[in-house]
This record gives sequence, structure tokens and C-alpha cells, in this order.
Amino acid sequence: MFSAKLIEILKQARQIVVLTGAGTSAESGVPTFRDAQTGLWAHYNPAELASPEAFKRNPKLVWDWYSWRRETVLAAQPNAGHYALVQMARHVPNFHLITQNVDGLHQRAGSEQIIELHGNITRIRCEHCSHTIDLTKQNLDSLTLSDTEPPRCASCNHYYRPDVVWFGENLPVQALQQAEQLAQSCDVFFSIGTSSQVYPAAALPLYANKAVVIEINREKTALTQQADFALQGASGEILPALVECVWG
Ligand code: OAD
Repeated sequence: MFSAKLIEILKQARQIVVLTGAGTSAESGVPTFRDAQTGLWAHYNPAELASPEAFKRNPKLVWDWYSWRRETVLAAQPNAGHYALVQMARHVPNFHLITQNVDGLHQRAGSEQIIELHGNITRIRCEHCSHTIDLTKQNLDSLTLSDTEPPRCASCNHYYRPDVVWFGENLPVQALQQAEQLAQSCDVFFSIGTSSQVYPAAALPLYANKAVVIEINREKTALTQQADFALQGASGEILPALVECVWG
């Protein structure tokens, strides 16, 4: 299933950096964004739900949509692809996981030191003072819930919002800088389950100018042509087979 050259490269790898996108969570039942028919953006307009303007225009609609997405991801389970990345990290001297995903499934699978480029839907943050609550540790019962508006911050009375990056917002500066530095220094760069359409995350493989670039995706993407290896298929199947084949 895998070329001897790829297996040897991975056995020799000293620093592996992995960038994941929504495709890595698809087999957990979490919808991607751009897959035709099943992607979120096929059913919802991101401009109406995933931007600061949308939240200002209709905070309760945005709050409720993200609450629905949060319930979906909290009900989902990490899949074999998530767990294979945990295994891979145990075999490689220097391993870093960068994710565009906001579903927290890498954390629940046991991955550590995750760089979250787009935030995390299981956290909420006050839009004014940035007070943050991790809803996997503290539930909403401690907040005053309303039928007409998002919960308000106990400190400054402004609305809580999902702790995710919205369209038109900048990515967390430190996370992005760290991701770019890691891409520049690694010898193997994986791009897994991402359509490679959303920048600046999609530029990371271009920073990996010293690395062997390996793409795992069900379909071809904008990166496929430039990748050194393009493994076409489901990450939940390819990753466990690859980890087994290389590291036994
Ligand atoms: P997309 O929905 O754009 O792309 C998902 C990719 O995963 C596609 O290339 C699919 O072919 C692939 N895919 C689907 N199922 C797969 C599977 N089982 N195994 C492997 N690949 C599979 O999602 P992203 O690229 O993650 O931004 O989107 C990037 C960003 O755009 C997201 O982080 C989000 C979205 O708007 C923000 O939230 C800021």
C-alpha cells in the first residue's frame, strides 16, 4: 500500500509536523465545510453565521448555531485517524500537531501540544474582556441563560461568543507564528483532510521548504500537485495502516 521510499523517509524522520483539517473528523460524523452535499457551507451561509458582523446582527442565531455544532462534536468520538496520530507522535523524536479544526477531537484522542489555528468550539470567550470558559470542564449551568440572547459575562456583562476564528478575523498570532516556524524546520510535513483553500493555514506547506510533503485526502486538492506523496483515501484508514507499516 505504501512505497518503500515513503516508509524509509518516515522511519528516518526526526521532526514531523502535521496539519489537519475537517476531513480528519469526517469519519467521526462531524461535517466538513466544503464537501459537496454534506459540508456545512452547502447548507449554511458562513457570512450569516461565522463572522463578527453576523454575531453583531443576530447574536442569538449565531450562538444557537454554534451550540448545535458544539453538541455535535461533544457527541462525536475520535476516530482511528486521530488515534494513529497519537501513536505516530510516540515514535518520532519531534512531533507537532497543527489543526484548523475547532472540534477538540485531537485533544480527546490524547494528542498533546496542539496548535489550534482556528480556536476551539468547546470554549466560549467574552467578546469584550476575553474571559474564557472551557465547556468540557465547566458547563453552562453557572451562567444565566436566556431565550433571546447569548449568556453574558459575569465580569463585564458583555456577550460570550464561541472561542473560534470567524471570517474576517485574524488567527491567533502566536499560534500562526509557531506553526510557520515548525513548518520551516521540519523534515516531514503532513497535510491531512484539508481542502487547502483557506489561508494562512493553506500556506503552511509552502513554508515547509526543507520537508518531504505528504498529503492524505479523499480527493485531489490545490496541494496535491506539489506534494511529494499524495495518499488518496480516508484518513481514518490510511493513517493507522501507515503507522503500523512504518513503526509496527
Ligand atoms: P474543508 O471542508 O474545506 O475540506 C475538507 C477536506 O477533507 C476536503 O479536501 C475533503 O476531500 C477531505 N476529506 C473529507 N473526508 C475525508 C476523510 N475521511 N479522510 C481524508 N480527507 C477527507 O475543510 P478544511 O480544509 O478543514 O475555517 O477547511 C478549512 C477551514 O475552512 C476550516 O477550519 C473553517 C472553514 O471555513 C474556520 O473555521 C475559520
